[in-house]
Amino acid sequence: MKERKITKAVIPAAGRGTRFLPATKAQPKEMLPIVDTPTIQFVVEEAVASGIQDILIITGKDKRSIEDHFDKSLELEMLLERGNKHEMLHDVRKLSELAHIHYIRQSEQLGLGHAIQHARFHVEGEPFVVLLGDTIIESATPCVRQLIDVYEQVQGTVIGLEQVTADRVSRYGIIEGDEIAERTFRLRDLIEKPTPEEAPSLYAIGGRYILTPTIFDYLDQTRPGKNGEIQLTDALRRQAEQESVYGYHFDGIRYDIGDRVDYLITQVEYALRRKDLSERFLPYLKTLGRSL
Ligand code: UTP
Repeated sequence: MKERKITKAVIPAAGRGTRFLPATKAQPKEMLPIVDTPTIQFVVEEAVASGIQDILIITGKDKRSIEDHFDKSLELEMLLERGNKHEMLHDVRKLSELAHIHYIRQSEQLGLGHAIQHARFHVEGEPFVVLLGDTIIESATPCVRQLIDVYEQVQGTVIGLEQVTADRVSRYGIIEGDEIAERTFRLRDLIEKPTPEEAPSLYAIGGRYILTPTIFDYLDQTRPGKNGEIQLTDALRRQAEQESVYGYHFDGIRYDIGDRVDYLITQVEYALRRKDLSERFLPYLKTLGRSL
């Protein structure tokens, strides 16, 4: 088999974000900040830290601020330069030079699978990475890097997996599969949002994927599901029926920003990891904890 290298990433960021209304009425959920950094910046940085330079962001209505965020802002740069704010200037410049970022619009929000169909011509028949634009993964080795390393061994679709507790399986797509190497599974099936009794495992689809290009054929065959959306999970199921599809239990913590409680947890944990903030924030949290 011809060995194919992964050079492109796709970040779907066109969803409506209804779980986060009213904040997402006129601004993208992917721009919600974790302390002072928009969620999607962490996602792009993970791709870059994994060796990817070519990124396609799937955007939609009211998502212009994503493009502005990664673009050059000469006005702002001049202002910072005049104010001798060299560190900020450096950060702002770095941001617009992070990667080659392309954009395509999904005009109707018909689901994650439909969003990914928009990447077909951009990926040019090569395998590619998908990172959900509303999901941050905190890990020592970037999650996407871990998945690429597995892909290089198996040369097939690899789904990033997170282990969840039984009371949370009904929020996720859960896999059924055989462990073929440490943390690596060959999938037999995928079940969307099962009850704890139905769940065949505690491994949930975790917002990061390496997809081989045949996924587009399976997406073409996928009809909208019960909420009228074309589900990526349905296409992956079909792919797993016809080809070897793998899952890898990545080392890292997943934060789903689209969920309000997860969002709050992310804010607190990231603030505590930042030395410049934790000095004041930690004593406050301790006092608050004692008073509860
Ligand atoms: P979600 O499943 O969280 O969907 O999308 P959503 O529609 O944005 O959120 P809710 O459920 O209405 O609150 C996961 C990722 O896939 C993208 C989203 O932007 C998010 O980053 N997505 C989802 C699309 O790009 N297009 C879609 O049609 C749906």
